[in-house]
Amino acid sequence: MAEPRKVSFKINGAVREGTTEPRKLLVDFIRDDLGLTGTHIGCEHGICGACTILFNGEAARSCLMLAVQADGAEITTVEGLAAPDGTLHPLQQAFWEHHALQCGFCTPGMLMAACDLLRVNPSPTEEEIRTGLSAVLCRCTGYQGIVDAVKAAADRMRSSN
Ligand code: FES
Ligand code: FES
Repeated sequence: MAEPRKVSFKINGAVREGTTEPRKLLVDFIRDDLGLTGTHIGCEHGICGACTILFNGEAARSCLMLAVQADGAEITTVEGLAAPDGTLHPLQQAFWEHHALQCGFCTPGMLMAACDLLRVNPSPTEEEIRTGLSAVLCRCTGYQGIVDAVKAAADRMRSSN
């Protein structure tokens, strides 16, 4: 077995450190070592998007990265979206209001992918939302509620800026 390696990165605003086998996936490190289980694991090979996080500000699949690759990085998971006082992020609020989830399994990945989409395109059309979120699979909702929620969150975020 390869020697364990130290890894240190900022996650949801706090520096976290640990020791990991070089082969450990980032999603496993986040969930098992850091206890941040909001990031879900679906397929574990880059298809479903359930494990999507923000890695240095951009959406990334944490099942396709090793924990050691995150050394020195800045990561946001779904636990980092709400404000410290518990106020929901506009996307979370809109998902709630527009019934954009059923079982909720895809929701953390959807929210993180939507964050990245709105960062790049603060005023997306419905078509652009569908394309922007196409890398995250939802087996429940039929997507319309998700699209409506992202549109509503985009409107709210633009009007508050
Ligand atoms: Fe990472 Fe499915 S668990 S893409
Ligand atoms: Fe169930 Fe999307 S809400 S997978």
